[in-house]
Amino acid sequence: MADHAATHPSAPSIPWWLQPAATVTILSGFIVYATWVALVGSGKFGAYLSPFYSPEVKIGGIPISPAFWVLWAPAGFRATCYYYRKAYYRSYFADPISCMIGESRRRYAGETAFPFVLNNLHRYLLYAAGVVLVFLWIDAVKTFFAGGRFGVHLGSLIFLVNVVLLSGYTLGCHAFRHMVGGNLDCYSCARAGRLRFRLWEWVNPFNHRHA
Ligand code: FES
Repeated sequence: MADHAATHPSAPSIPWWLQPAATVTILSGFIVYATWVALVGSGKFGAYLSPFYSPEVKIGGIPISPAFWVLWAPAGFRATCYYYRKAYYRSYFADPISCMIGESRRRYAGETAFPFVLNNLHRYLLYAAGVVLVFLWIDAVKTFFAGGRFGVHLGSLIFLVNVVLLSGYTLGCHAFRHMVGGNLDCYSCARAGRLRFRLWEWVNPFNHRHA
C-alpha cells in the first residue's frame, strides 16, 4: 500500500485493514440478523412470506423453525460462492490478507481438507438455491395479487427487486456459467452447441458483475 501511494502521489492513503474490517462487520451483522429472524420470526406478515421461510415447510412434531428447512440452501450457496470465499478467507482468516502476500499457514491444504473441501459442493448448492429461487418468484408474483385483485404496493415492489437481484446473482454464478457453456472445446461440434453458446453469451454479463 505504501509503495502504491509512493508511485501514485494523488492516490488517497486508505488503511489496508479498512476493507476486511468492513467485510467482517457487515457480514457478521447479516449472519446475526438472519439467525435471529430464522429463530424468532413467524415468517408471515399479511400477504408477505419472508424469503427466509419460502417455500413453506411444515413438519409436525419437530420443534425447529421452518426457516431452517430452507435456509441451508441459500446459506450454503453463499458460503461456497467463489467471491464470498475470497471475502471471508481474507477478512476473517487473513489467509492470505491480500494478493502477493504469503500464506499464514505453514502447510497449505487449499480446499482439499475438511472443512473447506465442502466448498466443492458449490454446484450442487446452486441447484438447491435455484429451486428456492423459483419459489421466491412465485411469492413475488403473489404479492401483486394480495386480496384477490392486482395491485402494486411498496411491499410487492420490494419483493420484486429482491428476487430480480437474487436472480442476477444466481445467473452470474461461475458454476451456472460452466453448466450452460463450459467444458466444451468446440460449440459448433457439440450437441445443442448453438443454444449453449447463446446461453453462455447471455449469462456472461451477469458473471462479470457477480462480485
Ligand atoms: S454463487 Fe458465486 S460463484 Fe457461484
